[in-house]
Amino acid sequence: MEKLVIEGGKPLHGEVKISGAKNAALPLIAAALLAPGVHVLHNVPDLRDTRTILRLLESLGLTWERLGATLRIDGSGLKYSEASYDLVKTMRASILVLGPLLARLGRAKVSLPGGCAIGARPINFHLMGFEQLGVQCELEHGYVDAHIDGRMHGGTVCFDIPSVTGTENLLMAASLARGTTNIKNAAREPEIGNLVDMLIAMGADIEGKDSDRLTVHGVEKLTAAESTIIPDRIEAGTYAIAAGAAGGDAVIQNCEPSHLPSLLEKLQLAGIGVDVGDTFFRVTAPKGVNTIRPVDVTTMPYPGYPTDLQAQFMALMACSNGVSVIHETIFENRFMHVAELQRMGAHIQVDGRIAMVKGAGANALTGAQVMATDLRASSSLVIAGLAAQGRTDISRIYHLERGYEDMVEKLTGLGATVWKEEE
Ligand code: EPU
Repeated sequence: MEKLVIEGGKPLHGEVKISGAKNAALPLIAAALLAPGVHVLHNVPDLRDTRTILRLLESLGLTWERLGATLRIDGSGLKYSEASYDLVKTMRASILVLGPLLARLGRAKVSLPGGCAIGARPINFHLMGFEQLGVQCELEHGYVDAHIDGRMHGGTVCFDIPSVTGTENLLMAASLARGTTNIKNAAREPEIGNLVDMLIAMGADIEGKDSDRLTVHGVEKLTAAESTIIPDRIEAGTYAIAAGAAGGDAVIQNCEPSHLPSLLEKLQLAGIGVDVGDTFFRVTAPKGVNTIRPVDVTTMPYPGYPTDLQAQFMALMACSNGVSVIHETIFENRFMHVAELQRMGAHIQVDGRIAMVKGAGANALTGAQVMATDLRASSSLVIAGLAAQGRTDISRIYHLERGYEDMVEKLTGLGATVWKEEE
């Protein structure tokens, strides 16, 4: 197993190019199940998670090839309808094949994902939605066994809480249903807009893009199409926070600053310079000067502050000059990074879903041996390691590789001293 080693305390300078979004690539790859023919996807990041979903598509009968960041997926060979535990347990987003399989084959057997490091993460909203479209869902032996005779029909689905993959699964299923489906309290994350655009390019009839009310008029068939994955807003946000915590002057290139409204405001409130262009933004923060102000954060569905950037912001707040309160409202167990940040000298107290961070200034953190527990927790440890004095060893970096493409190369390009080593 590999670990990541960081010699911290150096400001970050230069440019970093952002890859395509993991959480857009996964549903768009799953959407290739909806139609025969060759789908072409551009700007697809090469990550552990994108490889996992491609393995899953292969196990269902599809073929694919990758040329650089372009994927060609042939949806013609679909013949199996079962997603096994072995694949689903490594990546919850495997549940995204449920909607397309039901739409195309009328049946799907997908392993229940179970809990994960950040919370229980049930899939009841997905199943309730499919049932509104006429699907029968049974839970047996750890699998969801879903089936329908003939086509699904339109229906009305109202989510209790906006669910990102729930909205995506329903959109894909409803696109091939008979009649109209209304999705209320839909999630509005930009990745869903990316999927809507791909489905429309495939021939789907969807209204309400980027709103919490989506209307899908089902069509008889979809055809293969060409789409481009949007830039990864969470990756962009992670490098921006890193430059704030370590200090420096970094330009975050190839991104969509308008997808980060809440983070950019929080960075500015923290006293970090943010200059926004069309497809880039620049972050400036003097190193070693105690200028970072404490800022409170509450995670919310888009366009609120993203839960996927909560851990990273906590590392920044550990280097601030005062007390900040971080409230995690989306997942019940997303503070696994706290104990590791404490090992690096951070002063954090947790009470349920609220963490109080007592920032101790630019030199608050010191390098230590720490362990990654999930994807975003890992990236908060990277940020802490970059800001800390001395050497930080982060073990279990396979978590990081699920969602950050070429992180070592990108950080090196920003002047950081970072490398991978066998444990
Ligand atoms: N929820 C339910 N029942 C459901 C579905 C969701 O109770 O059937 C609850 C969840 O437990 C959570 C809330 O609803 O409290 C929202 O969860 P959501 O369904 O939106 O999460 P998700 O679709 O499973 C996606 C991202 C996550 C990201 C969340 C929230 C993908 C592949 N995953 O998960 O990304 O944290 O939305 O924005 O898009 C990550 O990239 O590190 C990551 C975890």
